[in-house]
Amino acid sequence: MKRTKKLLWLVFPILLILFVWFKWDNWFYNPPEPPYTPSSTPDRILLTWSGDPLNSRDVTWQGDTLTQTGFLQITSNSTPGDTIRYTSPSKILKTSGGASSFFRVVMKNLKEGETYLYRVANGSHWSDWYNFKIENRTDSAYSFIYIGDVQDSINGVSGKLFHRAYESQPNAAFIMFIGDMIERPHDAYWGEWFRAGGTLFRTIPVIATPGNHEYHKGLIQELDERWMAHFSFPQNGPPNFLGRVCYWDYQNTRYISMDSNGIQSIPSAFEQRKWLKSVLENTHQRWIVLMMHHPIYSTSRGRDYFYLRALFKPLIDQYNVDLVLVGHDHAYGRAAHIQNSKFKDKQGAVYVGSHASPKWYDTGFSEKMDKLATNTQMCQLVDVSNDSIRFRTYTADSIYFDGFTIHKDAAGNRLVTENAPKNSSEYLKPTKYFLRKNSKGDLEKYEQQMKDWEKSKN
Ligand SMILES: [Fe+2]
Ligand SMILES: [Fe+2]
Repeated sequence: MKRTKKLLWLVFPILLILFVWFKWDNWFYNPPEPPYTPSSTPDRILLTWSGDPLNSRDVTWQGDTLTQTGFLQITSNSTPGDTIRYTSPSKILKTSGGASSFFRVVMKNLKEGETYLYRVANGSHWSDWYNFKIENRTDSAYSFIYIGDVQDSINGVSGKLFHRAYESQPNAAFIMFIGDMIERPHDAYWGEWFRAGGTLFRTIPVIATPGNHEYHKGLIQELDERWMAHFSFPQNGPPNFLGRVCYWDYQNTRYISMDSNGIQSIPSAFEQRKWLKSVLENTHQRWIVLMMHHPIYSTSRGRDYFYLRALFKPLIDQYNVDLVLVGHDHAYGRAAHIQNSKFKDKQGAVYVGSHASPKWYDTGFSEKMDKLATNTQMCQLVDVSNDSIRFRTYTADSIYFDGFTIHKDAAGNRLVTENAPKNSSEYLKPTKYFLRKNSKGDLEKYEQQMKDWEKSKN
């Protein structure tokens, strides 16, 4: 007995060291950032809002470090001759690959129902003109586009998907990203994401929650400094998570962003939880949408962020959150909470995990999920009114893949109806990675799980 104990004491540390060694790159290694030179003309222009979306807009952009002052010029469709000029001091941000200037302007006192034109300048270098519209406060119905992880390669394909989503939803009030917009916190990958967005990001406000790929790896992970420079989000979050844990109110809906990757210690978990509780207690909007990168219910094989469930699920239920939008798993999953669903809390929030990345992970065939897919990118179009949230998911080939509607009556009672095509084996097949890494026996198991899951859902 003593001998076995001694042996265990010896073997355990060796196994631990081997495990950490095996996982080292995944957990701790940050590939060096290649040197970069920022553009002298305005670059990476992004429209968002941090105040009232019905009378303000924020614009950020980037330039080289020689530019001391940025300018923004704005005019409206109804008074084309009148222009207002804002100035922004340059904020120089140095990273391991170089340095650039960032600029930020908040445009206030904008008029409801008005279309505005704006352009920005680094010193004397002006951008093109872009336009945006401020909705009317009485128009409680609106639409938005929800995009999961992007993580595209340089010269990637995700821009096509963004633009296809926009073609289908040209009146979208904003585009929501759910983290992992970039593959790595390097200038080149930020550049790729902005290139993919093109004029969309300058015309439609962007809101976002951070993912693990916007973080630098390490024992304590750090959010890339460019997050705060690119995203002028409301500073209404808890003190250690300003600009990434926050909420936006748009018409009848409150959108709440949690920084799931920022939960790296017990204090950080409880700081976010306490904040979320106080925000939910004081939410009087008709709808509540929670955004976080890591899922409450995982879609991907072998993943389970149980601590997020323990932290946030009781609050989601207690305060009647309607929709929980997540990413990270690189496979589509929806826990529908509809009639006939095997999921117990049928009338709770609807959970959707999606991604727009060319990287695909295998599904885990969780019985909690009523819709699953991998091997394809997805985009989501969402229509919100006082009575309902209509949710539609499309593949990269514009195939209608999933849909549901959350109805809410005057008393606040919810009913979820499904408008989805049947689950199709085409989207459930193992990924190339699975086929490469696993045995024939594993594949047979996978196929059996797939059949069982399909049988239970269709
Ligand atoms: Fe991801
Ligand atoms: Fe992720």
